[in-house]
Amino acid sequence: MELAGIIVQQDAIGKGIGTALLKSAIISAKELGFLSMRVKTETNNQNAISFYRENGFRELGMGDQEVDGKTVKVVNLTLSLKK
Ligand SMILES: CC(C)(COP(=O)(O)OP(=O)(O)OC[C@H]1O[C@@H](n2cnc3c(N)ncnc32)[C@H](O)[C@@H]1OP(=O)(O)O)[C@@H](O)C(=O)NCCC(=O)NCCS
Repeated sequence: MELAGIIVQQDAIGKGIGTALLKSAIISAKELGFLSMRVKTETNNQNAISFYRENGFRELGMGDQEVDGKTVKVVNLTLSLKK
């Protein structure tokens, strides 16, 4: 399954909320029987890349994505949900 993304309100960043939301999404995806989770984030969003890596995701490679009519470079990350 593909996670569209996680956005924490600016003044609440760095307090563990993103990790709690991601862990909850992972539990739900496992319960629903998905075997892996993917997410894309812009290559210049180092905070998000570190965040996903710290939560067990590994990088699959780079690609392009249309965002508001513009093409941006993204990193594809994946997490195995297999037991
Ligand atoms: C990425 C994001 C969702 C993380 O949520 P968060 O609640 O801030 O993250 P947490 O507090 O749970 O932090 C978990 C880890 O993420 C990384 N991280 C989070 N904020 C960071 C920051 N400002 N600078 C560097 N690393 C950061 C750290 O590795 C952190 O681990 P640590 O606590 O051991 O240092 C949040 O920063 C955010 O909303 N960013 C803007 C939107 C975005 O880029 N979303 C992701 C694109 S899909």
